[in-house]
Amino acid sequence: MAVHHPIFARLYPAMSAAMERGGMAERRRALLAGLTGAAVEVGAGDGLNFRHYPPAVTEVLAVEPEPHLRRLARAAASRAPVPVEVVDGLAERLPADDRSVDAVVVSLVLCSVGEQGAALREIHRVLRPGGQLRFLEHVRADTPGMARVQRVLDATIWPRLAGGCHTGRDTAAVIERSGFRIDRLDRFRFPDARTPSSWHILGTAVRIDAN
Ligand SMILES: C[S@@+](CC[C@H](N)C(=O)[O-])C[C@H]1O[C@@H](n2cnc3c(N)ncnc32)[C@H](O)[C@@H]1O
Repeated sequence: MAVHHPIFARLYPAMSAAMERGGMAERRRALLAGLTGAAVEVGAGDGLNFRHYPPAVTEVLAVEPEPHLRRLARAAASRAPVPVEVVDGLAERLPADDRSVDAVVVSLVLCSVGEQGAALREIHRVLRPGGQLRFLEHVRADTPGMARVQRVLDATIWPRLAGGCHTGRDTAAVIERSGFRIDRLDRFRFPDARTPSSWHILGTAVRIDAN
């Protein structure tokens, strides 16, 4: 499975830079605050998270399947405060050993993967027991009217216009069904206006193992 969204990849840097200025940079800082050890970042895009990794993070393996965004991410990695290696790869097949990392980071990615359960199984596999999944994702609206709009958009034009993105996924529920315990969950709208992609979650989930 290849991820090839050349038009979206060329528009995303300007869109995401505007979001940064509108307050997303602070959310990214909160996403990564307090992390330590070795991390995998899935679907790193153009690398906007890199500058926010705290110094206690020893290495980041950043996986990005889209060629144009991967090139931009490599440039961002060269300016990052911690060592970041950017590689080709997919959420569904992460290039890391079982139980090998302390943290996995996803931001605005679980809306775009083909099947969330498959990506989360992979994330669970590479995390050490007790390791953290840090997530910042836009999700299903909490009003029935907007949730209906999201369903229609997701079944029609949105994924085609926005690089495979879906607006109405219940991502926190899927995380909890995939071998994680959510320890922290903030819900907020960004932007505050009610657009189909305004509803966000930011939090920490911990890998749990069945006995
Ligand atoms: C909206 S962008 C978000 C980029 C970045 N994480 C950020 O926070 O700005 C979605 C990203 O997910 C990546 N992506 C899409 N499908 C993927 C998959 N199956 N595995 C890994 N990354 C994927 C895209 O290439 C793109 O970089």
